Amino acid sequence: MEKALFHIKRNYVSFIELIVREKGVLFVSKKTLIEAFKNTSYQLVGHGNRNVQVLKEVFEKIDGYVESDIYGTGKVIENFQAKIASFLGKEEAVFFPSGTMAQQIALRIWCDERDVQAVAYHPLSHLEIHEEDGLRKLHGITPILLAEKDRVIELEDVKKLEDDIACLLLELPQREIGGQLPSFETLEDISKYCKDNGIKLHLDGARLYEILPYYEKSAEEICALFDSVYISFYKGIGGIAGAILAGPKDFIQESKVWKRRHGGDLISLYPYILSADYNFDLRLHKMKQYYENAKELAELYNSVEMITTKPLVPVSNMFHVHIDLPKRELEPLLVELFEKTGIGLTSHLKDVTDEACYYEVSIGDNYPLVPKDQLQKALNELHEKIQTTKGE
Ligand SMILES: Cc1ncc(COP(=O)(O)O)c(C=O)c1O
Repeated sequence: MEKALFHIKRNYVSFIELIVREKGVLFVSKKTLIEAFKNTSYQLVGHGNRNVQVLKEVFEKIDGYVESDIYGTGKVIENFQAKIASFLGKEEAVFFPSGTMAQQIALRIWCDERDVQAVAYHPLSHLEIHEEDGLRKLHGITPILLAEKDRVIELEDVKKLEDDIACLLLELPQREIGGQLPSFETLEDISKYCKDNGIKLHLDGARLYEILPYYEKSAEEICALFDSVYISFYKGIGGIAGAILAGPKDFIQESKVWKRRHGGDLISLYPYILSADYNFDLRLHKMKQYYENAKELAELYNSVEMITTKPLVPVSNMFHVHIDLPKRELEPLLVELFEKTGIGLTSHLKDVTDEACYYEVSIGDNYPLVPKDQLQKALNELHEKIQTTKGE
């Protein structure tokens, strides 16, 4: 009986929603956060929608007779690999369809070289929380987790390691804690310690470009501290997908063999490469602007009671916004705010505790388009809504 009532109720709701959609009648919003976000006129984060237009823009500007790559050979892939190897100051580079594949392979090669099947990285590194245990299951490598979850790895953490490891992986910036970074001196010290102790140092530089303005260093200067480096082309750069793994010649030759073993040697990767190359040239020089914009926006957020950013002052184009409300309470409040103000703050919330949640902010081309007075109004309104919900 209960089940039958549930179905009747659900069908009734769908029927009402259908009428609302068909007739364009304004009704109580049933939108999810992501739907409400997509419907806003201005969005604070990102570069815009990931749609076919993003591809069209790239291909419109390219000669239609440019030949595709074939199984890792051909001008289109070789020229791009050489260009990025030079940008990173590494001997050679290879294009991979994903960073997940590239990094597991990098760690496998370093482990095989030393015949030590263990690596170390941060407890919230991409490999640990987003790759379904690939390193263990596919390669039999044991990861050792360094440092507490809410801070970056320091030299002392590496020195305290009791187990032998073949490689240490550093993720810069450390995404899951708001893009925090160690000081450049710490990086130099860790690099020296690893060299002295026969440990390879690998950089998860998915967002490497985004930290250059903070360190005031070139990509080459940062990468010189690492034996191997991975960078992504779809995050801050805004391409469709794809990654580069760079390092010494022998290491890269070996990684190409593993790429084939993993089925990553697609007959042609040129749609990804052309998009990566186009967007790399389009956005690399904008990283300083994104960084300055992130600091400005974080300051605006921090001026609102009950909202804090992590870090307080961003060190890249990203940070987290922490709000003293549970996700289930903040979500409908944001949907309402987006619909009223036309300003989209985020499309995704994550719980911290039963009392608080956060969202990630990653600044791109969208931010400068947002009228500042409307943004300020939206933040004021957000403050009022939080206050009302908390009954303060
Ligand atoms: C820090 C970091 N490393 C690695 C990856 C993996 O990249 P891909 O999605 O290309 O496999 C990601 C993807 O989000 C990431 O954020």
